[in-house]
Amino acid sequence: MTAVDFLLTGAGQLVTADPGRGDGPLGLVERAAVAASGGAVAFAGPEADLPELELAPDATVLDAGGRAVLPGFVDAHTHLLFAGDRADEFAARLRGVGYEEALAAGGGINRTVRDTRAASDQALEEAAAGRLVRAALHGTTTCEAKSGYGLTVADERRSLAVLATLDARARVEVVRTFLGAHLIPAEYAGDRSGYLDLLEHEMLPACAPLAEFVDAFCDRGALTVEESRRVLLAGRRAGLVPKLHANELGSTGGALLAAEQGCVSADHLLFLEPGEAAALAAAGTVAVLLPGTSFMLGGGRAAPAEVLRQAGVRMALGTDCNPGTCYSESMQLMIMLACVHGGLTPEEAVLAATDGAARAVGRTGRAGRLAPGSACDLVVLAGRSYLDLAYHVGVNLAAVVVKGGVVIARGGADAGVLGNPEGSPSDEP
Ligand code: NIG
Ligand code: FE
Repeated sequence: MTAVDFLLTGAGQLVTADPGRGDGPLGLVERAAVAASGGAVAFAGPEADLPELELAPDATVLDAGGRAVLPGFVDAHTHLLFAGDRADEFAARLRGVGYEEALAAGGGINRTVRDTRAASDQALEEAAAGRLVRAALHGTTTCEAKSGYGLTVADERRSLAVLATLDARARVEVVRTFLGAHLIPAEYAGDRSGYLDLLEHEMLPACAPLAEFVDAFCDRGALTVEESRRVLLAGRRAGLVPKLHANELGSTGGALLAAEQGCVSADHLLFLEPGEAAALAAAGTVAVLLPGTSFMLGGGRAAPAEVLRQAGVRMALGTDCNPGTCYSESMQLMIMLACVHGGLTPEEAVLAATDGAARAVGRTGRAGRLAPGSACDLVVLAGRSYLDLAYHVGVNLAAVVVKGGVVIARGGADAGVLGNPEGSPSDEP
């Protein structure tokens, strides 16, 4: 007899996202159950195979009532920490003023950098906490988050420190990335290498202890390939794992740099040739697709799904939640857009939002799967199939969200995302 403190039964359809388990690419199991102990899955499979269990006295017991159950979503790419907004810039874009035009005119990222530097730690934390709660209410249980709107030693460090505080405070895991190379800040416009000296010799030593990954915005109007390579190499020397914003605004060589540097992920990839995709596949670099961004930038371009598929590149999804190109915390919306705008199948999109995204943030097997040993992070959908995520649009389909065996959201309402447990140990969703 095994003692468990979490038991979910009655899943009409369980997405395990575990290769080799269940049916098809999503590892589907019908009439399924999940049991967990200490936040880790002990059993995920057919209810008929559930071993005899001893329930801890305060165990959480859920009945999914025939609905679909999926791993909690992993958001592989966000810029969660920023002050202010750029709604007026977005409105101007609708009138034809391009994203790069606003950036070159001192708006865009530059403007959010000014707003973020001027905000207090508390204001930044509350803004990011609000976004994290909204993400969790929509099913996100692990969330990557980047610095990158500070661009001074002190502001980059405090951005990561605030994200670390949020990670400690929230039940959702916040995976931190140092993005001091989001842009060469305006005050260094005439001395780009001076900024990279500062980044390498002062920012990285101050920031690396607070982050896991190093990233750079390698694109037109941001950093060149040579500048980005320098940042990734310096980040690696400081103990960080490289990832890269690549080929979002143009075909600038970022994807090949990501492969060359063995990046864990290359993100965006709106412009991608077969040879570049082959290089990513060979390097084992995950393609993080951000369909909200390509959709909101307009122009009809999305990352080329067929090129990635043909090359065998593993795909992940993220919201890119940021004030400029895509202000959304919803991975459900990204799954829909990945299918309708990005050309992924629903199975590819759901796998990309779970196991694929976990791989992109160094959490392979720990997050994004429902299998013995992985975290008991899951979403009970309002519908009976994962297909609803692409089909039933514009509403929140997360009926219950569980992180580490604890209910954190229910019926779209917060039940303890920031660590105030619901206190109802045994309940129906
Ligand atoms: O991923 N590309 C760089 N960073 C964001 C945009 C940030 C902003 O506009 O504030 C992105 O699209
Ligand atoms: Fe981004």
